[in-house]
Amino acid sequence: MSMLFVFYLFLLLDVPKSCIAEKDYEFFMLAQQWPKGYCNRVGVPCKSRPNKFTIHGLWPQGRNGQLITNGNDSNHLAYDDIKPVENQLSLNWPSLIGKDFDFWYSEWKKHGTCSEKEFSKLEYFKLALHNYAQNDLMGILKRANIVPNKKQLYNISSVVAAVHQHTQHQPRLVCYLDTQLNVSALYEIGICYGEDGKSYKNCLDPHGTCRGTELIYPK
Ligand SMILES: *[C@@H]1O[C@H](CO)[C@@H](O)[C@H](O)[C@H]1NC(C)=O
Ligand SMILES: *[C@@H]1O[C@H](CO)[C@@H](O)[C@H](O)[C@H]1NC(C)=O
Ligand SMILES: *[C@@H]1O[C@H](CO)[C@@H](O)[C@H](O)[C@H]1NC(C)=O
Repeated sequence: MSMLFVFYLFLLLDVPKSCIAEKDYEFFMLAQQWPKGYCNRVGVPCKSRPNKFTIHGLWPQGRNGQLITNGNDSNHLAYDDIKPVENQLSLNWPSLIGKDFDFWYSEWKKHGTCSEKEFSKLEYFKLALHNYAQNDLMGILKRANIVPNKKQLYNISSVVAAVHQHTQHQPRLVCYLDTQLNVSALYEIGICYGEDGKSYKNCLDPHGTCRGTELIYPK
């Protein structure tokens, strides 16, 4: 079985629970995507590839990191809800493949509604922007001499350690399999927070979907 197949199987089996049934979340993960990695994944056509990590989402997580999604189904995001931060969102939380607002709409529907009692729509998007501003991942990795490169292999533990150096907590890495090099390639890093959405917390699975001991940080 190829690693890619195992990876997709893993995704299929990881069926999310509704956060209504789950009732509560235990912590948040701010997921930042690395556009060059994200766009290199098989079958993802990108309209732009910013040369920085951009926000994928701010995700309330259930017990033991269980993915929980889709809270109040009638609480839709409207354009006016996020108008005060629209410029910042366009810069830092762009959709790489479609319309920005559609991306924010679906992230709110799928994830934001799980913490809607604690964070209103505007508060939720502001929280994501605030946490993003405190974690310039490209700079954090660069300080550890980890820079984008087509072929250079980096120790996965060293990438985790570089982020830990900044937050004092474990991040969670997300990789795809670069089939040509037959090695994990980085496309996302999650940083975890407590229920308050502000204090750092260890993510549960630092190496995440990255297999083996080394990865590339695609250029
Ligand atoms: C769901 O959202 C709608 C629209 O914001 C609101 O009127 C309703 O009270 C919410 N329901 C619950 C159970 O929170
Ligand atoms: C990777 O880094 C970890 C932690 O810094 C270290 O223990 C390990 O020996 C390194 N592995 C390789 C293959 O360099
Ligand atoms: C790819 O890498 C894995 C793990 O390092 C190895 O077991 C496998 O034989 C490699 N596959 C190819 C086609 O080189």
